[in-house]
Amino acid sequence: MSFAVSTSVPGGAVLPAAAVSCVGVRADRTRRGVLTALIRAQLDDTTARGEVLSTLWASEARIYGRFGYGVATRGRSVRVARARGLRPQAPAGGSVRLLDRAELPTVLPVLYDGLALCRPGGITRPEGWWRLATETSGRDHVLAAVHTGRDGDDGFVVAVPARGDEFVRPLQVADFHAADPASTAALWGFLLGVDLTANVEASMRPLDEPLDLLLADPRDRTVTGEQDETWLRLVDVPTALAARAFPADPDRGATPVLLAVHDPLLPGNSGVYRLGDGAAERVAPLGGCAAQLECGVAALASAYLGDRAPSALAATGWWTVHDPAALSHADALFATTVAPWCGTHF
Ligand SMILES: CC(C)(COP(=O)(O)OP(=O)(O)OC[C@H]1O[C@@H](n2cnc3c(N)ncnc32)[C@H](O)[C@@H]1OP(=O)(O)O)[C@@H](O)C(=O)NCCC(=O)NCCS
Repeated sequence: MSFAVSTSVPGGAVLPAAAVSCVGVRADRTRRGVLTALIRAQLDDTTARGEVLSTLWASEARIYGRFGYGVATRGRSVRVARARGLRPQAPAGGSVRLLDRAELPTVLPVLYDGLALCRPGGITRPEGWWRLATETSGRDHVLAAVHTGRDGDDGFVVAVPARGDEFVRPLQVADFHAADPASTAALWGFLLGVDLTANVEASMRPLDEPLDLLLADPRDRTVTGEQDETWLRLVDVPTALAARAFPADPDRGATPVLLAVHDPLLPGNSGVYRLGDGAAERVAPLGGCAAQLECGVAALASAYLGDRAPSALAATGWWTVHDPAALSHADALFATTVAPWCGTHF
């Protein structure tokens, strides 16, 4: 199945996307091409609906690359000891209020709508997502806090105590979205002030969440893991590239590059694209002109939202370099100021 979402891409454009979920094949019918047929049908449906992108969370990392999906966002698991809290100089201000359990289904979706598309890779959440999320969170203790800054509500966190020894169990973050570092700081500060918990644990946090810079003792944060978060499939490469910002200013090093893209599954996407000068367009079929850089559609997805620099992808064999001078230009073109991140499990 998939459900329709909007997703933000670098530069702030919002594109229609299919959020793919619940993929499964009967255990006694696997490895005979059923998933391959399902993906083919789904990509056809996605194309027919005009969805430019397809996104998913993968149960295993070796399933979807062959279908043109690449890791597009990653997340970090952290454990924060709560003894010392934030630095006194950490951005402060605003106020935190708690929500009643009964308010969650109505208040959180509205708050989330204002925060969903702050980062590249963020997605909107349809009503059904919220219904499932609130139906399945049948725990007794749910802590939901909202931060209000100068311009109104700008962040929220939902956390639940983990099972364990009553007075030392960790507080587990279930949902945490904030508009900026100040709101992030205020909500972490709030969590770290909750008594009778040993520490605060959170998974799939943005890679650039500046927790170590906010804490009184940066070693109070332990990074316990780093995982692929969402996998992205560019279903309509020309539209996806044209919608994404590529900086136009040559003084910043962003000279246009010619990139050859291969997409055997959806060959209409293959071709040589000129990226830069604030635009992206296909200028030739594959082989129609000399490309400076070359990649498959899955490796393009890894750079598309800004997760990986083209130079890192080239150094590890995901991209091919024909003109080394183009690589630093491609890095400048694909760079984003914030790490891409979704923050919604589906
Ligand atoms: C993962 C799953 C959907 C694959 O379905 P399937 O019908 O067996 O897949 P296909 O037969 O179409 O496989 C296509 C190719 O992918 C490979 N492949 C499929 N699943 C794979 C896996 N888990 N790991 C590595 N390779 C895999 C197959 O070997 C095959 O390769 P080949 O063409 O070189 O022979 C199925 O095993 C399943 O339902 N697993 C449990 C649920 C699950 O993990 N779902 C994914 C949720 S994101």
